[in-house]
This record gives sequence, C-alpha cells and structure tokens, in this order.
Amino acid sequence: MSFELNGQRQELSIESDTPLLWVLRDVLNMNGTKFGCGMGLCGACTVHIDGEPVRSCSMPINAVANRRVTTIEGLAADGKHPLQRAWVAENVPQCGYCQSGQIMSAAALLSKNPDPTDADIDSAMSGNLCRCGTYGRIRKAIKSASK
Ligand code: FES
Repeated sequence: MSFELNGQRQELSIESDTPLLWVLRDVLNMNGTKFGCGMGLCGACTVHIDGEPVRSCSMPINAVANRRVTTIEGLAADGKHPLQRAWVAENVPQCGYCQSGQIMSAAALLSKNPDPTDADIDSAMSGNLCRCGTYGRIRKAIKSASK
C-alpha cells in the first residue's frame, strides 16, 4: 500500500490492519507521535489525515491508502509552526508526553478556525488528555498562535 507522509510518498508491504501509529513509530522511525492508551481515548497519538485530526492508534494502515498523513515532524518544514513557537513562548509542556498530540489537534483547529474562542478551543481539545494539567497554558498558546 502507499500513502503520503509529510510530503513524501511511502510504499509499504505490511499487514493491512497494523495501526498507523506502529507503522509511523516502528517502521518509519517517526517517534514524535506518542502511544498513550492505544484505545483512542487520550489523543497522544493524534496525527492529521488529509488535514483532519485522527487517533493513529485506532487507524488501520489500510485506511490511509493514497491519503496524506502529517505528523508533528511534518507540521512545519522548519519546525517552527506558529503553534510550536507559541508552545515554547508559553512554556506549555511539563512532562511533554502528550504535547505532540495536543499541537496536532490545535493545528487542525486553527486551520479551520483561525480565531477560536475559549469555548471553541475547549471543544476542539477536549479529546487530548494531559496528566500534568497544562490545559491553561495550552489554551493560552493557542490564543497566542491565533493572533
Ligand atoms: Fe491513541 Fe491514546 S494512544 S488515543
């Protein structure tokens, strides 16, 4: 099967039900996307498929055939997406584990809604859990990146 990953075509021979998360991490060595729960509940594994945020732990690889997958590594060519800059400026991460998934969900939000309200942010980010409770700084960074 083939798909596009961060702008590059990938051709793989792999079991069709392998979760996209494991293809990214174990086959393609893209380790920015994290494993949290493996059950579609925490959002740590969030990537974009054709611009939409999805849980890569729950997405079989055959479902991304001929589609465009973007991971945190491909969010900005120079690693300086406005959200990534805002994340640094606002000192968002604590342990950091969930943050790539948080940023991918936030990027999907801003691509559709460049000036989100607090309620819009809370709604879009509600599926991304953070054990350190960085939610206030996440919201602040999204607001700052949207300016
Ligand atoms: Fe995919 Fe938790 S690891 S949602």
